[in-house]
Amino acid sequence: MAIEVCGGSHVQGELRVQGSKNAVLPMMAAAVLCQGETVITNCPDITDVHAMAEVIRGIGGNVTYNEKEHCLTIDSSSVQTGEMEEKSVKEIRASVLFLGSMLARFSQIKIHYPGGCSIGSRPIDFHLCGFARMGVQTTEQEEYICCEAPEGLHGASILLPFPSVGATENMILAAVQAEGTTKILRAAREPEIVELCCFLRKMGAKITGEGTESIEIQGVRKLYPVQWQLGTDRIALLTWSMMTAGCGGDVFLETDSVMSEAEQEVLAALGCRLQWETVGVRVIQQSVPHPVPYLCTKPYPGYPTDGQSLVMAALCKGSGVSIIEERIFENRFRMIYQLKKMGANIDFVSNRACITGVTKLHGAKIRADDLRSGAGLLIAAAMADGTSNLSGEQYIYRGYERMEEQMRQIGLEVQKASGQPA
Ligand code: UD1
Repeated sequence: MAIEVCGGSHVQGELRVQGSKNAVLPMMAAAVLCQGETVITNCPDITDVHAMAEVIRGIGGNVTYNEKEHCLTIDSSSVQTGEMEEKSVKEIRASVLFLGSMLARFSQIKIHYPGGCSIGSRPIDFHLCGFARMGVQTTEQEEYICCEAPEGLHGASILLPFPSVGATENMILAAVQAEGTTKILRAAREPEIVELCCFLRKMGAKITGEGTESIEIQGVRKLYPVQWQLGTDRIALLTWSMMTAGCGGDVFLETDSVMSEAEQEVLAALGCRLQWETVGVRVIQQSVPHPVPYLCTKPYPGYPTDGQSLVMAALCKGSGVSIIEERIFENRFRMIYQLKKMGANIDFVSNRACITGVTKLHGAKIRADDLRSGAGLLIAAAMADGTSNLSGEQYIYRGYERMEEQMRQIGLEVQKASGQPA
């Protein structure tokens, strides 16, 4: 199957932005810290959530998802420690977050080494070094990593070499029930980490400093299952905003999330007007996108790497030259080959791309290689004259709920189609 987009029109209408993928995945890992039923509402119906659910079932937990209510229920009472095989780890990269929570609960876990991923090598050395400081011994057995804390986990001071989101989350998950106090320095500050800490605090954890570079966790004996209403997905919010920036038009996005200053500045530079209301934001674009002279991706609160493919697509029809530097993941520029098939004028050397805006893009047979390049290509397809056929759509379903239906809701002509990979 593929997604077919007949582009070239403005966007208009209203959308309710889905719940946050990057917040719910660590919460699912956190749910195994307690015994009993954790309930997460506003949970997006995306394949990454279902893959994470499979991992929990694989270790003995019970997970149900009510599509109508967007309600995820995890009963982790009967979770056992064991082996996380290649399939689970390959299927969903965020399964490495079970390292932290399973170590906290059972003091041991065996996991298949995470394979290469399409947006870069994505190692887990920061995670393992941090665990070592908490008393975890790691050995490698063929393709597996065995982590064990023979005397239980203890608090430690952990300085991360880089504010990695996953490593920060894993340290927090491991520390909430460790003996004593843990300090994470140079911690990632992403809003999803703040939401995870609020969720864990509701479960009974003692955490301070989330949202800053220094997080302190005092271990507690027991955590309790809770109910949680998930916040908006800020990258989905950015996706719909960039689609409006690229296509032109006027779209109201219902959200409880605010955009970072960096994101708002980039949208303003593209020529968009943002009108904030109590329940969301109206994005208005009345011109072709303006170029952005220089933009580089950074950890939060900088412009996010997950939003890089989105802005690149919008800039393809910019009224001038834009430069983008990707500083987080090395493979994000593979999308450029696909954009070129649509008539985009982009050169790149290493991690710097120069985008010279063209007046027209044309439909083409294109292929997504990862989630955000998929979303970027859909933006480009919506901006292009004629029909585009996008394969690799399974990447999009990992993180976006009812993508085609939502695009139709803002006036785009989109449907599922048959298609051979481009
Ligand atoms: C998370 C997000 C992903 C986002 C990324 C950066 C989730 C489920 N995924 O991914 O959408 O693009 O943050 O905002 O929340 N690194 C190492 N060693 C490590 C860990 C990371 O070298 O042990 C490097 C990575 O290769 C990368 C950088 O650190 O260059 C940032 O990665 P990280 O923040 O860990 O990304 P993820 O948590 O995998």
